[in-house]
Order: sequence, then C-alpha cells, then structure tokens
Amino acid sequence: MDKNILVLPGDGIGPEIMEAGLLVLDKIASTFNHQFTIDKGLIGGHAIDEENDPLPNETLLKAKNSDAVLLGAVGGPKWDNNPSHLRPERGLLAIRKGLDLYANLRPVKGFKQLLDASPLKPDVVGGSDLLIVRELTGGLYFGRPSERRDNDQTVVDTLSYTRKEMKRIIVKGFESAQLRNKKLTSVDKANVLESSKMWREIVEAEKVNFPDVTVEHVLVDACAMKLITAPTSFDVIVTENMFGDILSDEASVLTGSLGMLPSASLAENGVGLYEPAHGSAPDIANQNIANPMAMILSIAMMLRYSFAMNDEAHAIETAVEKVIDQGYHTGDLKVKHGTKLSTSDMAEMIVQAI
Ligand code: NAI
Ligand code: MG
Repeated sequence: MDKNILVLPGDGIGPEIMEAGLLVLDKIASTFNHQFTIDKGLIGGHAIDEENDPLPNETLLKAKNSDAVLLGAVGGPKWDNNPSHLRPERGLLAIRKGLDLYANLRPVKGFKQLLDASPLKPDVVGGSDLLIVRELTGGLYFGRPSERRDNDQTVVDTLSYTRKEMKRIIVKGFESAQLRNKKLTSVDKANVLESSKMWREIVEAEKVNFPDVTVEHVLVDACAMKLITAPTSFDVIVTENMFGDILSDEASVLTGSLGMLPSASLAENGVGLYEPAHGSAPDIANQNIANPMAMILSIAMMLRYSFAMNDEAHAIETAVEKVIDQGYHTGDLKVKHGTKLSTSDMAEMIVQAI
C-alpha cells in the first residue's frame, strides 16, 4: 500500500526519537512491501524561530492532505517567556483543532520486565493493560463564556457538549472495546453534573449496538482510586476531556516511564495524529539517550488506526516487547537488571527484532 505521512519532529528530543521511529517504519515498509512517502513540516519552537508561527499554515495544509501525521514533541525553555500566541504548545492545540481530532487514545501497558520501574507494587500493576479514550475538542477547556466577572470577584468556566460530540466519542469507546477485551468503563460525574447525566443516557442508548461489550459506569473520583488500587480491572475507559486529561496522566505512572506511552488523536474522516504522551524533555535533548519506544509504539498505532495494517502494528509491538524481555532498556527506566541502550541502539535493536 502507498501512504503519505507528514512528519513533524518538533523540538528537544523530538527529532532524535522521530529518527529512531522512522528506522522502524522503514523496516516495516521493506518487510511488508509498503511504500511510505514522508514529507516533513514545522511545528512548535522551530516553527516560531523560522516562521514566527507555532503552526504555519503550510503545515496545517500538508497535514490535511496526508494520510496520517507523526509528531515528536514541542516546547523548551528557549520559548518559555514568549507571549502566549508564540508558545510552542499553541501549535499543538491548533493542529488538534484544525484537524478536528476529537478522540485521544492512550494505551497503558505494564510490561513485566519493567515492573520495578513503577512506583506501585509489582503485584498491583503486573498485567495491567488498558486504553483511555478521551474526548479532545470539547468540554470545559473550550466552553464559553470563560471569564472573570464582578470586578474580579467571580469567575466562570463553561462545560458544554452537544449530544453529537458525546455520541461520537462514546461510539469510539465501544468500538475500541470491541477490538480489545470487550469491557467498557464509562467515567462521569452523573451524581452531580447535568452533562454527565446526558453522557450516561447516551452510553445506555448505544449499548444495544454493541451487545458483545460489557459496560460499567464509574464515577470519576472512584475511577481515580481504582486506577491505582486495581489497574488490572480495566480494559477500555471512555470519558470527557478534563476527566480524561487527569486520568491519563494518573495512569501513565503505571508503566514506570512516560517514555513508554504512545498516543493517537483521531478525526471522524480517518485522519490521525500520532505522538508520544511525553513532552520534548529538554533536559536530555541531543544526547542520544531518550527512550524512543513511545514514538515507535505511536507509529504502531498509526499503522493500526489510520492504515488498518494490524499485522504490521502487531509486528512492532511484539518486537518492542521482545527487546524489553531480553532486558534492554533506556536510562529513564529505573530497572535493576539488564542492558542500558542509547536512543539509536534501541531503535536498531527493535528493527532487528521485527
Ligand atoms: P516532559 O515529558 O518533556 O519530561 C518530563 C520528564 O520525563 C523529564 O525528566 C524528561 O527527561 C523525561 N522524559 C520524557 N520523555 C522521555 C523519553 N522519551 N525518554 C527519556 N526521558 C523522558 O515534560 P516537561 O519536562 O514537563 O516539559 C518539557 C517541555 O515539553 C515543555 O516545554 C512542555 O511544555 C513540553 N510538552 C510538550 C508536550 C507535547 O509536545 N505533546 C507534552 C508535554 C509537555
Ligand atoms: Mg495532561
């Protein structure tokens, strides 16, 4: 198959982990006989430096015309004191909005060789393997009004969703559960919020279309607790924007390092943006020590969700697991045994394992 991919390396460790990821993608192309055409674009700090814009129009246009977008990470101390419209993270929000990426998928897996890298007890995290499906373009972060009133004595934010916006993310949750272990946990605050009551109604109505999926409703506060005390009880979690933001960061500690966590952000028309869950890690940039596995696993997600290349995605995931099982790791993973590798050697090891 021929696919056009827009690659946005970004800032900090972005370019290093992207280079590592593209080695793996090359290996997939040759092994499975695909043609991936790569175009590169600017986003974040580099785009501010060169175009005075964190998301140049040209980048958004290229993204809209490609089959998928791969992003490294953006940001760094160089731009921290810029005015808000010239912050690298603006580029990220703008591309999510510009491509209407309403569904954010974050798988979290506790690899057994890395259990001692987690702050939680190995027998609690061991075997955890869950997917958080978070709504990304609505809710409290985008609702208007969002303003100060009464001479700065009152403040208001707005949690607003249309029925349609809720339905599409809930359906994505059901579909994701169908592709995994067929258990869906819908997270809300239906004992307090009207928006959550509507959310729950929609989940109940959609249930009949997915008879093979078991559904449970869990309140967000209880879910936060259960993620730490019983992470293995989850398969797919579906929730609105802010709850998902908080729960996905909480869930990230299960694996022991941000460097293991991929993500996908999907639009209704099939376009997807794939990026590691971590940031640009400026503290370790340009040293060839960053963990490339979150980037590499994000590429596997691209193959699965945007290109329906399930065998190819699986080949990458098994290779990563195999390399970890052999005791190889990067410096961010505080494990007691095994061999520490550089960014490029880790990529090479995964390429060989495919
Ligand atoms: P960060 O995720 O970049 O780093 C947090 C810690 O984890 C650091 O100690 C870093 O060295 C380590 N780390 C992260 N990814 C790693 C990897 N692949 N391998 C090894 N170690 C890794 O978050 P931080 O430090 O809060 O933010 C740094 C910059 O990144 C900021 O400018 C922030 O705004 C930006 N950022 C960008 C995001 C994105 O592009 N999606 C997301 C989060 C932050
Ligand atoms: Mg967050």
